[in-house]
Amino acid sequence: MWLRCTSRRLLTSLRVLKQKRLNASSWSNTVAAVVPEAAGFLGVTDHATLQDFSLTHNDSFWRAMANNRLTWISTFSTVQDCDLRRGKVKWFVGGKLNVSVNCLDRHVLTCPDRVALIWEKDEPGSQVKVTYRELLEMTCRLGNLLRRRGVKKGDCVTIYMPPCPLAVASMLACARIGAAHNVVFAGFSSDALAERIRDANSSTVITVNQGVRGGKMVNLKKTVDAAVDTCPNVRQVFVAMRTETPVAMNSRDVAMEEEMMHEDVICEPAVMDSEDVLFMLYTSGSTGKPKGLVHTQAGYLLYASLTHKYVFDYHDGDVFGCVADIGWITGHSYCVYGPLANGGTTVLFESTPIYPNPGRYWEMVERLQINQFYGAPTAIRLLLKYGDQWVHKYDRSSLKTLGSVGEPINTEAWEWYHKVVGEGRCPIVDTWWQTETGGICIAPRPSDPDAEIVPGMAMRPFFGIQPVLLDNELTSKSASGALCLAQSWPGMARTIHNNHQRFIETYCLPFPGYFFTGDGANRSEEGYYQITGRLDDVINVSGHRIGTAEIEDVVNHCSAVAESAVIGYAHDIKGQGVYAFVVLKKEADITEEELRQQLKDRVSKSIAKYACPDFIQVAPRLPKTRSGKIMRRVLRKVVEKDLNGLGDLSTLDDPSAVQEIIQGHKELC
Ligand code: PRX
Repeated sequence: MWLRCTSRRLLTSLRVLKQKRLNASSWSNTVAAVVPEAAGFLGVTDHATLQDFSLTHNDSFWRAMANNRLTWISTFSTVQDCDLRRGKVKWFVGGKLNVSVNCLDRHVLTCPDRVALIWEKDEPGSQVKVTYRELLEMTCRLGNLLRRRGVKKGDCVTIYMPPCPLAVASMLACARIGAAHNVVFAGFSSDALAERIRDANSSTVITVNQGVRGGKMVNLKKTVDAAVDTCPNVRQVFVAMRTETPVAMNSRDVAMEEEMMHEDVICEPAVMDSEDVLFMLYTSGSTGKPKGLVHTQAGYLLYASLTHKYVFDYHDGDVFGCVADIGWITGHSYCVYGPLANGGTTVLFESTPIYPNPGRYWEMVERLQINQFYGAPTAIRLLLKYGDQWVHKYDRSSLKTLGSVGEPINTEAWEWYHKVVGEGRCPIVDTWWQTETGGICIAPRPSDPDAEIVPGMAMRPFFGIQPVLLDNELTSKSASGALCLAQSWPGMARTIHNNHQRFIETYCLPFPGYFFTGDGANRSEEGYYQITGRLDDVINVSGHRIGTAEIEDVVNHCSAVAESAVIGYAHDIKGQGVYAFVVLKKEADITEEELRQQLKDRVSKSIAKYACPDFIQVAPRLPKTRSGKIMRRVLRKVVEKDLNGLGDLSTLDDPSAVQEIIQGHKELC
């Protein structure tokens, strides 16, 4: 049962809601002349000028943006208080606001019946539209329910749901009452979910009875039950009904929609400080356990809103179709917060690119009249293989911009996206960013709709973003190097939950004074950036980020395994696949077939299916340096079949280990 009703009381209460509006006189003329909002009518559309201004007058730029785009309860005193050397990042210090008011109430005042969400359910043609008024009402009821059930400002609520209006309402209800949310991708296993619930110290979880994807039912509540059984701190699980199938309810379970019906449609928004936590989101690093990156209120929302508007050239009335799952940062920033802060209409895609057939995306584009489509290269590569006829079948004339995210887009996929999907008339925006950055940092046309686009390049830094390419000596003149960002921006993560030291060590210490992204990049003579890939042991499988160390950790727990090394290899659909080298214990009594099955089961149970190795090569030993470090570089070269590129092997403990690896690889592939 999905909520749908209207209320006069709600509207009346909104009319009296006090709104702090931009004080126009607070804009200096200079700022007004160059900030992008002003660019159109003053004729300043040159990216370089705007970009320069945003860096040289960083405070003025962001002050104007924050005043113009956000609705404040009380304004901030200081634009920023940041020191990247110490991992200190604070924006709009002293300001008070509520993110849900910015995403809902202020639009309900001006356009209550505008569609906020289009829920594109698994079955084509069964979409559900939710207006701003309805979404506010849903959010308020849920906010009241959470409050009545003891969720307080500063608590953290874990959300394990597929993309759907109640998932968005859950995120916004947390924001309304000042609780942080921790959305866990609903493809993660119960072990992975439990780890995230425990680390976030959540005592409340929100889920659905079942998910529906690609025509199949997925028993999400069962996964939650298994996870929560190992989380003694969880006192309640809210269960929404996505399907009619009843599920067993435990004493800690709450029937969410039933309870929501008893709640008021007005929910007093909590007064939040700019730097209070809005959400945490777990992502993989090169070592250790997944880290809960923390994003805060004002800076994150402003950055999501501004990038959504300018990177995609979003205009009022457009339908924005980001097909990412809400469990990833792309879903947070470009299905939920960016579009809703802008009063936009945003699609929540529940299905897969090939259900019921490979025309799904384009049939949806035609039916929903999508104007901006934002997806991942892995899906584009998959669809390309099915042929152009699936695209040609549908009218794509509504499309204006096509976006790409999450991994490099290869030339073939770029050309196909541009020529076949976009009929050569839609710009492709290849957007580079990360969970850590909160929003897009490099993209082809962040201001000028006519700017030149070079295929396969993210190209231009967004306003306030200053990329530098560094080598170990912190030399910044080079045309390629470690991609770092030289000054703070409002959307960046503030810390790692419970581990600020890890935040500093990962992002601030490698290149003191800079934010280190973990990626490498090239810069062309024109100053355009091209991302070359990760510099650490993080890999990207079908756009999903995973640390090879996490997989090794699971593999090494198998009783037959002595040690392992996991690497990424080039995969023509997934971007990267997982390749595991495994050394067995001497006493191990297991066939290779049994081992493969066991390891696949373990990885999908402990992490998720996408992290399972495609290849498992049993090796007598691994190539190591004399100090005992596994030479991953050598393993990568063997898998890439680049035996001439093995490089300097003089530090190897025993060079014959390499020959064994080469031989084993030949036999396996
Ligand atoms: O390596 C980069 C790659 O994805 C990483 C970030 O992953 P995640 O935090 O899961 O966020 C994905 C969605 C923003 C980056 O460090 N990446 C992201 N976008 C691109 C990219 N690599 C190349 N080109 C891109 N456009």
